[in-house]
Amino acid sequence: AFVVTENCIKCKYTDCVAVCPADAFYEGPNFLAISPIDCIDCGLCEPECPANAIVQEDDLTPEQQDFLALNEELALTWPNITEVKDAPADADEWNGVADKLQYLET
Ligand code: SF4
Ligand code: F3S
Repeated sequence: AFVVTENCIKCKYTDCVAVCPADAFYEGPNFLAISPIDCIDCGLCEPECPANAIVQEDDLTPEQQDFLALNEELALTWPNITEVKDAPADADEWNGVADKLQYLET
């Protein structure tokens, strides 16, 4: 499955949901998660993310490994999202900021 990683936090552009044929995205307050149950590994979402936050699970760096389980867990509790919505007003300011996991709201 593909995995949403740290740089989505506080960016949440949602461009990814527009292209997903499997409706695999789930929405939290400031992050999206992909359900590995729904994801068909098509790869369409990866190039759509302006934050380059979507990674195939086999390509996760050691630092990104925790996001595999995190996506699976969060997708079980968050509501499905299938339509693009406006990103936070300060999304561009957070794009690329390091160590954003501390800001993840669940
Ligand atoms: Fe959806 Fe395809 Fe991305 Fe999986 S890889 S989340 S099926 S767009
Ligand atoms: Fe997040 Fe990128 Fe989608 S920032 S909401 S994974 S387009």
